[in-house]
Amino acid sequence: MKTNASRPVHRWPVRLTHWVNLFAMVCMFMSGWEIYNASPLFDFRFPPAVTLGGWLGGAIGWHLAVMWLLVFNALCYLLWSLFSGHLRRDLLPLRLAALRHDIWLTLTLRLRHRHGHYNAIQKLMYLGVLVLGLLLVLSGLAIWKPVQLYWLVAIFGGFDIARYVHFLAMAGIGLFVIIHVLMVIVVPSTLWAMLSGGKREG
Ligand code: HEM
Repeated sequence: MKTNASRPVHRWPVRLTHWVNLFAMVCMFMSGWEIYNASPLFDFRFPPAVTLGGWLGGAIGWHLAVMWLLVFNALCYLLWSLFSGHLRRDLLPLRLAALRHDIWLTLTLRLRHRHGHYNAIQKLMYLGVLVLGLLLVLSGLAIWKPVQLYWLVAIFGGFDIARYVHFLAMAGIGLFVIIHVLMVIVVPSTLWAMLSGGKREG
């Protein structure tokens, strides 16, 4: 049996589901933006260059097809994380004192990255994006099947509110991705670890 120290930074199920998720997310964002353009909630439209599907019907086709990949992949990640101990060992516990401490280290430019150990801010970001992902899928289901899933629509407070929730959850995940990729640029060795497994730091 592998000890914690001899385990790679990211085991293969995390790496595989992470990169499949990236592919699925890009397709979902781009096709979602095309669907949004057909009936915008706000006073702007997304440029055609960043949309997918070509027209409303094509975009809905992409969105509903890739949705299955996104949900299946997320379920694989969540079940594996739960039963392998990844969730309990690497993403939890998240304590307020640790968060305050790590925010202070960040503000004073002293927060170090140790391969194989998530700091409290990373834990908050990763757990937060998982919650946003759940909200995105549930609000998406509500606006996809509002008649059959009327109770889900009611939980969101109505069809129109579910649409806003879906958009805002997308925007939250978009913001996460921007910060996440900036952090990877700051510590590029994390990218190699997410591709190859990497070596844990003590
Ligand atoms: C170009 C896009 C992306 C790049 C380059 C990237 C890169 C990475 C890297 C290098 C890590 C490991 C960080 C570390 O060890 O400190 C990581 C972890 C993670 N990323 Fe990304 N990522 C991308 C997109 C995404 C997206 C779209 C999501 C979700 C919406 C996401 C969610 C996560 C999560 C939840 C983790 C923690 C995984 C775990 O340990 O269970 N990433 N990412």
